[in-house]
Amino acid sequence: MLNLENLSKSFRGGSFGSGAVPAVRQVSFSIAPGEVTSLIGESGSGKSTIGKMILRLLPVSSGRITFDGVDVASLEGSALKEYYRKVQGVFQDPFSSFNPVFRADRIFRMLEREYFGDLGAREWSAKLHTSLEAVGLNPADVLGKFAHELSGGQLQRLLVARALLLDIEILVADEVISMLDASTRVDVLNLLAGLKERGLGVLFITHDLSLGHYISEHTVILRRGVVLEIGETAKVFGNPQHSYTKMLLASVPRLHSHWEPLEPGEPARTGPRDAPRGRGRRARGQPLEPVPLLVEVEPGHLVAFEDGGTATAGDER
Ligand SMILES: Nc1ncnc2c1ncn2[C@@H]1O[C@H](COP(=O)(O)OP(=O)(O)OP(=O)(O)O)[C@@H](O)[C@H]1O
Ligand SMILES: [Mg+2]
Repeated sequence: MLNLENLSKSFRGGSFGSGAVPAVRQVSFSIAPGEVTSLIGESGSGKSTIGKMILRLLPVSSGRITFDGVDVASLEGSALKEYYRKVQGVFQDPFSSFNPVFRADRIFRMLEREYFGDLGAREWSAKLHTSLEAVGLNPADVLGKFAHELSGGQLQRLLVARALLLDIEILVADEVISMLDASTRVDVLNLLAGLKERGLGVLFITHDLSLGHYISEHTVILRRGVVLEIGETAKVFGNPQHSYTKMLLASVPRLHSHWEPLEPGEPARTGPRDAPRGRGRRARGQPLEPVPLLVEVEPGHLVAFEDGGTATAGDER
């Protein structure tokens, strides 16, 4: 079980590099085995920053992340190596994870050296083939190829196969679907669904509400680094309480309904997949809003307290 407790991250920045820019503020949630948790928010809301802190690619500013009760920030040496055996990430652009100069399966050789030095060549090869087949790849199609000879979907699967070799327990999947075409998307989604059946906990980072709805048991709605609504997916989507969540859901066109021109003066609807973009950032000089309290509105469903129902994103237009 991975727990985020009051997790915050500030980047150095502001005018002339002074001051701190908060990217994530007092975020708490957990990722349980056998479940997918979606982290949903517009661009710049802090989703990848959370993923990177979990993977120790960025240090935490305050709060903590624990894995099976141990503070992840305290891990060093062999304990950190063990952590990476259990917690791995796959990112949006699979091409960026591969060095174009080397064959794509070099990622496995590095893993072999690091974690499986005591396996014989034949045993290693059998293990590798099993993990490739588990993600729907034919080893003969992918081994020995360069990244440019493989499709985005194949590369994404190679990365998942690599994570599986380590017997991982938690996978951080950051916008893994966005780059793929429609038919490959379904395959990778089904692959992720298969992972949770194998008992993995998945943090599914996306700005796509329908993907989050489709795949996850739990949903976290993030805006400007702050959790606004969190809970069981069926409750957050079926009974949204925060005006921002309602606005996001209203901006997703229903399937099978046709596009109709807007009346003059009506607010523009956004594209089919994207949460509204560009409102995630605080205007220069605008004071930082306090982190709202989360109130339990029904069992397993928490919503950020809205001050008089006014200070909300939906009203900012
Ligand atoms: N290394 C960094 N240095 C300074 N600021 C950063 C850094 N990384 C992220 N930020 C800022 O932190 C905020 C959150 O960024 P993050 O990448 O986590 O957003 P995101 O929700 O993943 O967005 P997207 O959907 O576009 O991927 C943004 O305002 C971003 O500009
Ligand atoms: Mg991101």
